[in-house]
Amino acid sequence: MIRVGILGFGFMGRMHFDCYARRDDCRIVAICDANPEGVQVDRAVGNVAQTTESLDLSGVEILGDFERMMDTVKMDALSITLPTFLHREYTCRALDRGIPVLCEKPMALCLPDCDAMIHTAERCGKVLQIGHCIRFWPEYAKAKELLDTGRYGEILSLSLRRLSARPTWSHEDWLMNTDRSGGMELDLHIHDSDYVQHLLGMPKAVFSAGVKGGGDHLDHVTTQYLYEQNVAISAEGTWTMAPSFGFEMSFHLVAEGATIVFDSTRDPAFRVCPAEGEAFTPSLVPGDGYDWELDHFLRTVQGEDLPAVTTLESARDSVRLVEAERRSALKGEIVSLDSP
Ligand SMILES: NC(=O)c1ccc[n+]([C@@H]2O[C@H](COP(=O)([O-])OP(=O)(O)OC[C@H]3O[C@@H](n4cnc5c(N)ncnc54)[C@H](O)[C@@H]3O)[C@@H](O)[C@H]2O)c1
Repeated sequence: MIRVGILGFGFMGRMHFDCYARRDDCRIVAICDANPEGVQVDRAVGNVAQTTESLDLSGVEILGDFERMMDTVKMDALSITLPTFLHREYTCRALDRGIPVLCEKPMALCLPDCDAMIHTAERCGKVLQIGHCIRFWPEYAKAKELLDTGRYGEILSLSLRRLSARPTWSHEDWLMNTDRSGGMELDLHIHDSDYVQHLLGMPKAVFSAGVKGGGDHLDHVTTQYLYEQNVAISAEGTWTMAPSFGFEMSFHLVAEGATIVFDSTRDPAFRVCPAEGEAFTPSLVPGDGYDWELDHFLRTVQGEDLPAVTTLESARDSVRLVEAERRSALKGEIVSLDSP
């Protein structure tokens, strides 16, 4: 039975809690939050609907200090679901104490912080996984699986969208403080940049247009990812939608032999439309991307040698990709990704 801790119990902390609580190979032993009294309270929802499961904290130690948590609680694994500007510091502290970490995406605010996390994980020889949940999200994972079979030929185009109203739930509104969140591009849009990279590798260059938000950050971005092969790849991310719009994540993937579409606001949300014959919805694994990323993490912690779905280098590359998109939008120029 793996003893799990959760550090940061806001929207995503509660999400990880529910995923762990559904499993029978682990037990949540402790939660640490800067506001430990708030842990008892059921949280407001973020973009992806949360469970309505009631919060059962029996047997869970609640703490307000991370050092004390590491001193007093024996943990085999830790979810770090803190605001992004804290990822580097707390991830490195946990790894240094020998605790395997699943840290939420984005890996960190900047590349030097990503490098520090990678070096610490290597030095300590401990598992570090970054929560790029879209790689595990059933529809996105299935689209990649179908492409990888070769059944539908080569990919011709992909267009991704992640559209949201301004998030209002974060602790002390850290998401709106771009020094703490990295802006919409690093917090929200990175999901799609990461998926582009997952499907096609890093592009040669990006060309983005954006709407500036706070500082040199973006509230809206549309990017073309430029590859040498004959493909048209684009993504749009925003948190400028009117609150009544809600949230949409969607994609159109056109391959030589099929069009594969997903739209979280439609029913059916996922369809494969083959060049010949009727459209159909393939069977999908139950649960969502959070369940499957946690599954991957816990099985890796237990020593299973699983195929890498996300790596530390790819998580770093997604930060690099988003930084290039930001520069491109601000300068109005194509930005090359040739140098690491
Ligand atoms: N994978 C996804 O789909 C997804 C979705 C939303 C957020 N996220 C990521 O998850 C992370 C957390 O986001 P959130 O929406 O849950 O934020 P949040 O504001 O809802 O929660 C953050 C929690 O951390 C606590 N906290 C802050 N400083 C602390 C400290 N020093 N020690 C202990 N606790 C502290 C706060 O009290 C709060 O409860 C971010 O990196 C965000 O980008 C990922």
